[in-house]
Amino acid sequence: MTSTDFIKVEGAEMVFETRKGRFHALREIDLSIAQGEFVALIGHSGCGKSTLLNLIAGLLKPTGGVLLCDRREIAAPGPERAVVFQNHSLLPWLSCAENVHLAVERVFGATETKAQLQARTLAALELVGMGHAATKRPHEISGGMKQRVGIARALAMEPKVLLMDEPFGALDALTRARLQDELLKIVARTKSTVVMVTHDVDEAVLLSDRIVMMTNGPAATIGEILRVDLPRPRDRVALAEDRGYVQCRKEVLDFLYTRQGHVEKAAA
Ligand SMILES: Nc1ncnc2c1ncn2[C@@H]1O[C@H](COP(=O)(O)OP(=O)(O)OP(=O)(O)O)[C@@H](O)[C@H]1O
Ligand SMILES: [Mg+2]
Repeated sequence: MTSTDFIKVEGAEMVFETRKGRFHALREIDLSIAQGEFVALIGHSGCGKSTLLNLIAGLLKPTGGVLLCDRREIAAPGPERAVVFQNHSLLPWLSCAENVHLAVERVFGATETKAQLQARTLAALELVGMGHAATKRPHEISGGMKQRVGIARALAMEPKVLLMDEPFGALDALTRARLQDELLKIVARTKSTVVMVTHDVDEAVLLSDRIVMMTNGPAATIGEILRVDLPRPRDRVALAEDRGYVQCRKEVLDFLYTRQGHVEKAAA
């Protein structure tokens, strides 16, 4: 049973009160996301992608409209909506396993034995290929590895929704490609619903079922939604010359650089 509006954003508005007055960041956001769907949010810097993701995460409250997850109003962060941030937010004094374990304990601590919690922690690290680094501290591993541990921590909570804010933004192209491929496999296996913020057009097309393209701010909204009907599993090398892929890519580029091209003005 899948729901076509597992996540539902209805008429969401976000106005920030700043020292310089009110800032209308998002207006009239309407979006429905199906269970198991992979949705990318793309748009120029400062348009409000993170704000929308944080609204879905429950880290921000909308100043208007309503957000629902599984028919319940999103009023606060919850373990069913795990977040992966751009700058891996691992606790530096804990090992990789301890970082993951903390999240596992929060979600399953009341109902499972110590051995079960431990097994969950190690399984999540294995899933992202980090089992070997369980006892290492964050400063002892690379940026890409930290990001993988962050993803493991999120997945270990068995969230209904995985929310990712430019999770690979700080990585070099090769590491980024490897993690994208891993993410594709993991999501295929776990059937998670994913909302991912990205600046990267290729990343959006490769990973997504739909790409939500946002207009420039202030008062940004959803400009267009592109359906990416490419079959899965997707292979980046084969796709590079695929006509459907090239067409999707072109449509996103056209939206970003032709129709929403005035980045400087928007970011000011
Ligand atoms: N807490 C806040 N208080 C005031 N203004 C804010 C706050 N958070 C975000 N904004 C403003 O809202 C707009 C959208 O910000 P947001 O971080 O969502 O953009 P973004 O699309 O994620 O940008 P980037 O791609 O650079 O990460 C920006 O103009 C930003 O300055
Ligand atoms: Mg952002």
